Amino acid sequence: MNTTVLPHILVESLESIGQSHLIEHALTLDAPVLAGFIEQLEGFDLAAIGEYINRYGKGYASAPPAASIEPARCYTLGDQTWDRAKYRGIGQQLIRDGKVACFTVAGGQGSRLGYDGPKGCFPTSCVQNKPLFQLFAESIRKSEEKYETRILWAIMTSPLNHAATISFFEDNGYFGLDAEQLMFFEQGVMPSFDLESGRLLLAEPGVLCTNPDGHGGAYRALKESGALDAMLSAGVEHLSYFQIDNPHAMILDPVFLGLHRSADDSSGEMSSKMVAKASWDEKVGVFCSIEGRTEIIEYSDLPEGLAKQTDDAGALAFNAGSIAIHAISLAFIEKIVSDPRYALPFHRAIKKVGSVDPVSGESCTPSEPNAIKLERFVFDGIKLAEQSIVVETDRVEEFAPVKNATGADSIESSKLLQTERGARWLTEAGVDVPRDDDGRVDAMIEISPLSAVEASDLALMDLPDSIAAGSTVVI
Ligand code: UTP
Repeated sequence: MNTTVLPHILVESLESIGQSHLIEHALTLDAPVLAGFIEQLEGFDLAAIGEYINRYGKGYASAPPAASIEPARCYTLGDQTWDRAKYRGIGQQLIRDGKVACFTVAGGQGSRLGYDGPKGCFPTSCVQNKPLFQLFAESIRKSEEKYETRILWAIMTSPLNHAATISFFEDNGYFGLDAEQLMFFEQGVMPSFDLESGRLLLAEPGVLCTNPDGHGGAYRALKESGALDAMLSAGVEHLSYFQIDNPHAMILDPVFLGLHRSADDSSGEMSSKMVAKASWDEKVGVFCSIEGRTEIIEYSDLPEGLAKQTDDAGALAFNAGSIAIHAISLAFIEKIVSDPRYALPFHRAIKKVGSVDPVSGESCTPSEPNAIKLERFVFDGIKLAEQSIVVETDRVEEFAPVKNATGADSIESSKLLQTERGARWLTEAGVDVPRDDDGRVDAMIEISPLSAVEASDLALMDLPDSIAAGSTVVI
């Protein structure tokens, strides 16, 4: 009987990492499926995967908390000691000179939202239901007009949503952008494995279960796709990084970019924005300083005593919540991907993953979380920067995430925040905006990014004197 149909070297690798069930499984496959299976297996560094399974599998122990965790120093909104206007000028010049490209990570699976399609296609704006991709495309068009420059936009997808993302842009005429200024590239994937046995799982006969390798896969994917080199050739030096699910992310913030590039305490490698935490237990990563380096500690890893700690004025000591907005230099990305000492760690998530039995081919749907998915996080790059700064921004201005179908961080909460921000911008421009007794805006207000990407853009527009209570308004 033929005991192997796999190349000898693959058999050895699989045996050495305890995955012999896949050798047996290969015997059950028809030639074309087998060829695909071999290709998929050869695409992974199996020795490394064996190590990850040992490290992150059943016996996993998370690293003990660092001995000394301090709050990270931040450029706060109330602090008058730094020259906002100076850094705005520096940032504006960087944008005008074409030295900053936008970069959106859109490779996630959006499982909490439960939307069937790439999250960027999700109808999001509060009146017109414009999809997230359109909102960002229009912000880029408006910024190009303001800064009289061309802005490149890199978008990371995953193998699971790449084709659908490209079709969406094609079908919508790239939302008014040139196809040439867009760079779509795919992130990598990681195989998921069984929590108990450490066995790699099969999504279907001849196909391993995989998941996108996390937004931290962006560093490597930027390099391997050629996007990094293409941007360098175009004169880009820095990326303005944001996630697809935050319609309030300011795609290019000149003050933030100026600080990132030129503040004395910034090495210009990787900088971040924060908002003051809403409560000690808000589920956001927190900026900390450990042995002089800035880091984000996940909410679940920050010891409760520290999370609750207050300063003399009664404010949370660790109050700098991450909103996943960063400025990252291309030189820094080169440094991270070219030196194995800077390899980012993986984070594990225990999830329900359906699979097929390698011998019988029967499918099994777990009722409890049964598998480990491994992902890299982009923010693990921060501690690799020599000097990484954190800049405070206003929560309503820049954080209206769409993560869940309902409740907190859902499309409902995002739409309310969009209206609130629109109301603030209009009030600042002298428009009378109705509010109810609780202070809530008594209207639905959508400000198109083609009109304004920041409040001051409205000053140049012809606006109504007031908004009628209960009305729906698009500016
Ligand atoms: P989330 O951590 O919210 O994950 O991603 P998600 O996959 O979108 O949603 P859930 O957890 O399945 O509900 C934050 C951002 O990082 C991107 C997402 O597209 C989103 O912009 N991301 C996440 C990637 O680009 N790749 C990944 O592998 C994971």
